[in-house]
Amino acid sequence: MSVSVIIPAAGSGTRLGGMITKQFIELKGKPIIVYSIEKFEKSPEVSEIIIVTQRIYFNEIRNLCNRYHLAKVKEIIEGGKTRQDSVRNGLEKVNKKSKFILVHDAVRPFISTNLISDAISTAKKTKASVVAVAAKDTIKLSNEKNIIEKTFPREKLWIIQTPQVFEAKLLNRAYQNAFKKNILATDDASLVEAIGVNPQIVVGEYENIKITTREDLEMAELILNRNSYAE
Ligand code: CTP
Ligand code: MG
Repeated sequence: MSVSVIIPAAGSGTRLGGMITKQFIELKGKPIIVYSIEKFEKSPEVSEIIIVTQRIYFNEIRNLCNRYHLAKVKEIIEGGKTRQDSVRNGLEKVNKKSKFILVHDAVRPFISTNLISDAISTAKKTKASVVAVAAKDTIKLSNEKNIIEKTFPREKLWIIQTPQVFEAKLLNRAYQNAFKKNILATDDASLVEAIGVNPQIVVGEYENIKITTREDLEMAELILNRNSYAE
């Protein structure tokens, strides 16, 4: 049972700022998005990779695929206004024969191939899996004036990451439902939850950061140096 991977990479990185869109910033001479794609190129379960990006980057991605021998990249397509729009565009290009779809942010370069494999095998058993780490901080809910309204029990709170893996039929149905009902979410699992399916958590690694702000970029350098990534 092969898995199709969608990599949303059409964001503009406003929280990071700077001249280069964050997915193309180089760490030790290699663009962040290449680290991410390589992990799936190496995963035996993965049959195709769909990159969703802005039209102006089509050529750049094509060149990177040649340079780094990323042979599983089947499509480079245009993204939308939000991440959700981008993933929805990606879904249209997935091989109809694929039974499972994995979604992974372009800007999470430190995902491990073991974790990819765990997430896939879990989704094959449960229809939906999300990689997550236990919350370290206490998390509270506030109103619009920043007054605390509720505190959640920490032992039940998870920081949700990607990859997230779903049965293809289920994810398509979730996206159709969200489109119809105008549901907007920041991850794919939320849309699946909205149609009554509860994804299984796969306990992941704190290292699988999403490069979002300047601090994350500094953290990324530290992680790379510590692991002395040869690739
Ligand atoms: N993404 C996308 N299409 C969008 C917005 C985001 O494909 N319209 C992708 C980003 O490229 C990234 C992932 O979704 O790989 C996670 O999004 P985020 O970290 O929010 O990235 P940006 O939207 O680029 O950053 P910001 O929100 O700071 O502008
Ligand atoms: Mg964003």
